[in-house]
Amino acid sequence: ISSTFKSTTTPAILEKAMENVPMWALLVAGFFGVQIVAVVLNVLRQLVLPKDPNLPPEVFHFYPIIGSAISYGNDPINFFFKCREQYGEVFTFVLLGRKVTVALGPKGNDMILGGKPNVVSAEAAYTHLTTPVFGKHVVYDCPNETLMQQKKFVKFGLNTDNFRAYMGMIEDETSMFMSTDPNFTAIHSKTREWGRFNSFKSMSELTILTASRTLQGAEVRSKLDKTFAQRYNDLDGGFTPLNFLFPSLPLPSYRRRDKAQRAMSEFYQDIIRSRRNGGGDHEHEHDMLAALDQQTYRDGRALTDVEKAHIMIALLMAGQHTSSATSSWTLLHIANNQAVQQALYEEQVKHFGLPGGGFKTMEYEDLKDLPLLDAVIRETLRMHPPLHSLMRKVMQDLPVPQSLAAPSESGSYVIPKGYYVLASPSVAAMDPNVWRNPTEWDPYRWMPGSASAAGNLSGALMARSDEEKGEKVDYGFGMVSKGTESPYQPFGAGRHRCIGENFAYVQLGSIIATMIRALELRLPEGMPEHNYHTMVVVPKSPCDIEYRRRSTA
Ligand code: HEM
Repeated sequence: ISSTFKSTTTPAILEKAMENVPMWALLVAGFFGVQIVAVVLNVLRQLVLPKDPNLPPEVFHFYPIIGSAISYGNDPINFFFKCREQYGEVFTFVLLGRKVTVALGPKGNDMILGGKPNVVSAEAAYTHLTTPVFGKHVVYDCPNETLMQQKKFVKFGLNTDNFRAYMGMIEDETSMFMSTDPNFTAIHSKTREWGRFNSFKSMSELTILTASRTLQGAEVRSKLDKTFAQRYNDLDGGFTPLNFLFPSLPLPSYRRRDKAQRAMSEFYQDIIRSRRNGGGDHEHEHDMLAALDQQTYRDGRALTDVEKAHIMIALLMAGQHTSSATSSWTLLHIANNQAVQQALYEEQVKHFGLPGGGFKTMEYEDLKDLPLLDAVIRETLRMHPPLHSLMRKVMQDLPVPQSLAAPSESGSYVIPKGYYVLASPSVAAMDPNVWRNPTEWDPYRWMPGSASAAGNLSGALMARSDEEKGEKVDYGFGMVSKGTESPYQPFGAGRHRCIGENFAYVQLGSIIATMIRALELRLPEGMPEHNYHTMVVVPKSPCDIEYRRRSTA
């Protein structure tokens, strides 16, 4: 640069000055210069160049490539609400080089979650994140039609008989946890001092203990040691927003993920081989491996050991953060709302209290007769659905229905092939046009006959009626309510709808009831904020709950 300057028209004074500027300073100046030019060009492109009338409006952003990554990443829900105000129900934002079109409201959810897999593909959107963690040949590393069959196999294992067996196991694990975990044993069970526990940390531990005791099987439960925890943590470290945005980076966390995946796959395959050889003296009639053993694909082929092992890993990961985030948010709300806590305790006493003190075990069939327990979980999932963004990749140009958004009365938007589309269960669930006081945690809105249920309750009514009377579809894993237009979709909708919902209710219901029977909770610091920097929305630390043992427990 300086030699060019010297040989041309630079005045002598500038030439002299340049000689004294170190090379690094010129490089830094050049670097920032390029950035400024890129920002200016990007802004001009958005403000001055004519827009393609068939493309949905693009969210204004300064930095090319980075786009709106920071606003979206820090608080996606606020970002969506703000964009909706400015651009309407359908808009595109730039997320680290990807174009992501958000479609909000029931019609937006219907277009994305109800879309055909050859038009909007979950596999193409997620496989780079999930396959290195779950392993090959399952979930998003196989054709959609194979995934639908795999979901059917898992649903077969998630049956009423198994749920009946799980209830007592979960209660047992929860009670054991409360009598052995250092956070709970620090306060002697006979004194009534207040202790504290980190809600998310404790619920994460309890979730893996209960899931392994039930779904994952006795061998997994008996091997929940340091090695398993390390492998799990390394796998989990490969399941982050960074991995979603950058499929492969030369970072130690990516290498640890790959090593842990191989070890975890071997671990499950060893269990399968050992069972086949008659090894293991465990009772495993009710676990998922036993269910997978009985299944065959439509062409008559049995699942391979690798497929079984990788389905088990997928289930472990799919249920862990979703359930632990939900149980910690639920406990936090209960601790923060003494009236609901007391009513919940009384519901337990009424149904299960024994004359001499103590409680009888809650059975699977009892769950449907506990409206408040059901409502606190539902309401928590409304306000804190663990997955705020459900994504698909657009495989063919996707016309946006005119009734959802259109540039003019005669035209319509088309989302081009190669874009991503995004549906957000969180936005519909917090929409003031659908829910009364949406930011208030009010489980009674779900309970017909209660004061909160009277009046404007369209959200809960619509959600309930959709579950009970809505259209039912079989995508290949049994009849499910389509639910793509429901304002309440914490478990998603359409062909990729969660199959773990009933298990989650068994697990969450049993954990919450067992804890409420034994403990009084309070939350001196108030509700924590959302942490959106993880794959699943978890409470930001500090999220400690104070507890003391009930005098009657
Ligand atoms: C799918 C939420 C627990 C297994 C989903 C989806 C959501 C979700 C929103 C749809 C994803 C999409 O459309 O992109 C939840 C919540 C849970 C929970 C809120 C607990 C509170 C579980 C559990 C399991 C599980 C316990 C396993 C036992 C699955 C599977 C899918 C799924 C296999 C299907 C993925 C697909 O078809 O693409 N879940 N989940 N989930 N979930 Fe869950």
